[in-house]
Amino acid sequence: MAKTRTQFICQSCGAAHQRWAGKCDSCGEWNTLVEEGITGGIGGGPQSLRSARKGRIVALTTLSGDIEDAPRIASGIAELDRATGGGFVRGSAILVGGDPGIGKSTLLMQAAAALAQAGHRVVYVSGEEAVAQVRLRAQRLGAASAPVELAAETNVEDILATISEGRRPDLVILDSIQTLWTDLADSAPGTVTQVRASAQSVIRYAKSTGAAVVLVGHVTKEGQIAGPRVVEHMVDAVLYFEGEGAHHFRILRAVKNRFGPTDEIGVFEMSDKGLREVANPSELFLGERHAKAPGAAVFAGMEGTRPVLVEIQALVAPSPLGTPRRAVVGWDQPRLAMVLAVLEAHCGVRFATHDVYLNVAGGYRISEPAADLAVAAALVSSLTGLALPADCVYFGEISLSGAIRPVAHAQQRLKEAEKLGFGQAILPQGGEEPTGAMAGRSFQPATLTDLVIRIAGSKRSRAEEID
Ligand code: TYD
Ligand code: MG
Repeated sequence: MAKTRTQFICQSCGAAHQRWAGKCDSCGEWNTLVEEGITGGIGGGPQSLRSARKGRIVALTTLSGDIEDAPRIASGIAELDRATGGGFVRGSAILVGGDPGIGKSTLLMQAAAALAQAGHRVVYVSGEEAVAQVRLRAQRLGAASAPVELAAETNVEDILATISEGRRPDLVILDSIQTLWTDLADSAPGTVTQVRASAQSVIRYAKSTGAAVVLVGHVTKEGQIAGPRVVEHMVDAVLYFEGEGAHHFRILRAVKNRFGPTDEIGVFEMSDKGLREVANPSELFLGERHAKAPGAAVFAGMEGTRPVLVEIQALVAPSPLGTPRRAVVGWDQPRLAMVLAVLEAHCGVRFATHDVYLNVAGGYRISEPAADLAVAAALVSSLTGLALPADCVYFGEISLSGAIRPVAHAQQRLKEAEKLGFGQAILPQGGEEPTGAMAGRSFQPATLTDLVIRIAGSKRSRAEEID
């Protein structure tokens, strides 16, 4: 009799553990280990097959040769095509991840309708919503008349059999990967084993037929279902759809793309008739900021391989306390102490009798030293009451001597800032130089004193507050 063994698999990173534990050793997430059987199928690995099969001879071929169709299918939604690098690639699999309710199904339904109307065969398989719900959304989007083929189904074998009927589809959308299950694996839908096995079958289908396949994946914080991370390495491109709490804007960001760049983003706005493309995102972002308020500086940061622009807010106010207060949200307290010390020691800016509050907008947490320069600019701006230019971004590391040191990915930061409508940058010397529109309006201070002089000099009347 086959021995049944179980393993505990982390639903966040996929690491296998022999014993249950509250915390995954591998990724540090809590409560993500779930028991999964490894008796047979995909989870059991090849040795669990009863007898080894003799290999089939595969035809080897050459690099040059006929490609029957145009390799890309552009959706006509410019922001989406920009993020995918020019459209969906035939024979590839794309993962579209994002928080539940962010608008993934809406975006893909709009893309499906646009492509179907252009004469492509598009199949939309919903594993989460009933046909009626999908129809309701299509009506709301004004896409009900588009010839999209629709099904509500979750079994991978059934789905593949269905779409293999008739003309080969150009685009297949599977919403979502966490609801799919295959006969090959015996764990519950949504577990790492099922998600991986289902994705593998679907990706094999895409490669062998030349259809473009889009997998939708929910990002999960609780780890009850496997996150999209467990299939990121298997697909050709990974796009994340992001948005901030109460705001209507959404950003589609490529974090991996075998056929295009990963530093492009698509910007949308969620309206009552679906997602609207935002051609000039600066309106959205600058509209919410108070251009004339002192103490705010925009930091051009990086999150892993992704550029992010974050507003850093500082409030410097006279303190009634003997030991003034320093409060930080979203950044390092010791790092703030260091920036304050450098400003005092090398630039003659006094904070000893002031409370200092520092906040990173939007609930972000910044861990990069590159934020030093933006923090210093926000602090000096708040102390002097002089607002910083609204279309300016800041990045650079401050050393204890007061020098400003170069940081990595300067081009990516500048490119993101330019894309989001910013026109000037304050950045370190000696790194990559700004190009394009940013080049003429950038300032590269050698020391922190240069920056303080520039801010204080922007309006002479208030400048005497700095001694
Ligand atoms: P949905 O695409 O279902 O999100 P996901 O597939 O990522 O879970 O979008 C759901 C949200 O979008 C929901 O809160 C309602 C909102 N919405 C609009 O504001 N306007 C619209 O036209 C549509 C279709 C949805
Ligand atoms: Mg959905």
